[in-house]
Amino acid sequence: MRVGFLQTSPRRLQREANLLEVDGLLAGAPAADLWVLPELFSSGYLFRDREEAEGLAEAVPEGPTTVALVSWARRHRSALVAGVLERGPSGRLFNSAVAVDASGLRGLYRKVHLFGTEKGWATPGDLPFPVLELAGARVGVMICFDWRFPEVARTLALAGAQVIAHPSNLVLPHAPEAMVTRALENRVFTITCDRVGSDEAGGQRVSFIGRSRVVGPDGEVIAEGPPGDPAVAVVEIDPRRADDKRVGEANDLFGDRRPDRYRL
Ligand code: ACM
Repeated sequence: MRVGFLQTSPRRLQREANLLEVDGLLAGAPAADLWVLPELFSSGYLFRDREEAEGLAEAVPEGPTTVALVSWARRHRSALVAGVLERGPSGRLFNSAVAVDASGLRGLYRKVHLFGTEKGWATPGDLPFPVLELAGARVGVMICFDWRFPEVARTLALAGAQVIAHPSNLVLPHAPEAMVTRALENRVFTITCDRVGSDEAGGQRVSFIGRSRVVGPDGEVIAEGPPGDPAVAVVEIDPRRADDKRVGEANDLFGDRRPDRYRL
């Protein structure tokens, strides 16, 4: 299975330009079965206020971002997981991720752990952490700051995820290193797709750290993007490696868990 990330440089509120950037990167990219794109890749990350976010929010799957993703899935014969600013039921806004393939929308996840200014416009996610049969693997989805809550990757892995697709807009410096731990402690593949550049709005400025990463079940970094530039990477993985939770002769990461001893 070939998996990749598209580390882009979104421009705030410039959906058309941001979709074009992805279109161009995909046109020049090697083939992949599964692509991961950044969180909020078509809208930008920072909003002056809720009203500004509202202006960019889209229904799923009718909105232009999901429509573009499905058309790329058909054109490039691949599945994609990508962030979208979603207008959900009752006009609530969600920082969401969609999973699509050539058949259309396959999954929707609404970010559970909102970060910083997101709390000013987004509603915390109200859907289960999804694990989908996608591109020949069981793919779990989480978004950016969810990395800081090990329960999320664990929940996805216990539900059978072999690969965790992780659209991100990373701000804190530790996430690429932490994803080695998320992969290792669950023996899964992780694909973190970050963005680069910065956003400025409402007197705030946020810079993004790039360094998108694919990590394997032994914690090995299989691919990494640069800190400051857009980048595309595609690597071959065998998702079945994630089904083997053994650690040496005597241990099994899931078999040795002691939930009776945890207070969570
Ligand atoms: C983040 O969750 N976008 C930092």
